[in-house]
Amino acid sequence: MTSLDAAMTPEEFRRAGHALIDWIASYRSRVEEFPVLSRSTPGSILESLPSSAPDLPGDVAEILEDVEAHLLPGIAHWQSPNWFGYFPSNSSEPSVLGDLLSSGLGVQGMLWATSPACTELEMRMLDWTVEALGLPDHLRFDSPGPGGGVIQDTASSAVLACMVAAREQATCGVANSQGLSQESTPLVAYASSQAHSSIEKSVRLCGIGSRNLRLVETDQNMAMQPEALARMLDEDAAAGCRPFFICTTLGTTATGAFDPVADIAPLAAKHGCWLHVDAAMFGTAALCDEYRWMHAGVEQADSWSFNPHKWMGVTFDCSCLWLKDASLLVESMSIMPEYLRNAATESGGVVDYRDWHVQLGRRFRSLKLWFLYRVVGLAGLRAMVRRHVEITRELVGWIEAEDGFELVAPAPLTLACFRHEAGDEVTRVIMEAANATGSMSLTHCEVDGRYVVRFAVGQWGTTLDHVREGWKRIVSVAKDVTSS
Ligand SMILES: Cc1ncc(COP(=O)(O)O)c(C=O)c1O
Repeated sequence: MTSLDAAMTPEEFRRAGHALIDWIASYRSRVEEFPVLSRSTPGSILESLPSSAPDLPGDVAEILEDVEAHLLPGIAHWQSPNWFGYFPSNSSEPSVLGDLLSSGLGVQGMLWATSPACTELEMRMLDWTVEALGLPDHLRFDSPGPGGGVIQDTASSAVLACMVAAREQATCGVANSQGLSQESTPLVAYASSQAHSSIEKSVRLCGIGSRNLRLVETDQNMAMQPEALARMLDEDAAAGCRPFFICTTLGTTATGAFDPVADIAPLAAKHGCWLHVDAAMFGTAALCDEYRWMHAGVEQADSWSFNPHKWMGVTFDCSCLWLKDASLLVESMSIMPEYLRNAATESGGVVDYRDWHVQLGRRFRSLKLWFLYRVVGLAGLRAMVRRHVEITRELVGWIEAEDGFELVAPAPLTLACFRHEAGDEVTRVIMEAANATGSMSLTHCEVDGRYVVRFAVGQWGTTLDHVREGWKRIVSVAKDVTSS
């Protein structure tokens, strides 16, 4: 180390940086050699690490040796082409470079004034993405009106922010200024029984309370039933409650079901509810015209969010949220302490993203999207989506053709959910045996009270061969399990 205020000289940083990029490139080229899921036991990584920080300086080469020796055994290889668990979490190389640049610039983009480029590149990326996904123009900054978008860390934060804005709208600001306890009318939120757990978390964090979240029944495709929602809304309104927030999902977590936003929107309008659309996983499919059926009715939504950090290739974290009227969110989040006052904010002519979410400080996340769009291009992203959907169609055909297995939900995009006819326990053992081979990762969910395996295609390196081999492995372990 050269001095107390410079941890590395530019030359040392350059050398260490090259070594780190070399290591990442090498890791990615050998990622298939590792067991996809970590086999470490609880506490084993912890034990391999010293219990105190070093007093003396060290070098990056030694750290990389420790990464190999001590951390890699504890890594679940999300970037493996044999990753079929939870959801794809593509950390594409261009977006890794954008992330590195964000760290290198070390910008805090809380106000326009604290780095105008951080704010304005983000605005431009959000507008590009509206167009790329075929979302309504009124969500763009460069169209007339109060619409606009923001990058949040996660879809969970996005829905929380929207719920806070909806709560303020419903209580005419009373909740923020005096607290919900001053409200005599209970606020009630609605989502389908298949909605993500982040909706209940938001309801808790907003002070609404889990008991004021109604989980609406779903149909045979696991999509929200508008008739059931209509009934609940009417009953709650008649009982003196104030319905204020409806969350619809385009691509539910368990089975990838799509709620009928067009049928739900008029109900939201009738009851004066905020209508949010959570398209965290499958929003990416709308890059292609042929999957924009999912957008039916979204022009009536107050907010729409999806996670480029899942299927689209942007390294975590990057969740895009758009609002039809962003001023509702800004008004509910904005507090102006003296130390943040500045001429640009006071001019009213700039966006200060600190008012669009919970935290004040913010990273230059839009660089990750910018690098992705510029290196891969929309044509490349569309080709990726189409390839994964085609691969999943093949997989669905194999599942349907295999004796003993059944598909339990429609699979219009890249998630196939299946079970073994021999029952829940056999299905669970098959999944665990397939994972134990180290050659793939699968996760499960519950559908109608039954144990179901989810096979999520969408890692960028995944080819038809990876999926074919994965399916053969499942069939082979199923034969062992059912014959023993
Ligand atoms: C439909 C849906 N919504 C929300 C989330 C939460 O995403 P995040 O981790 O970005 O909060 C998920 C995650 O899987 C999801 O599938």
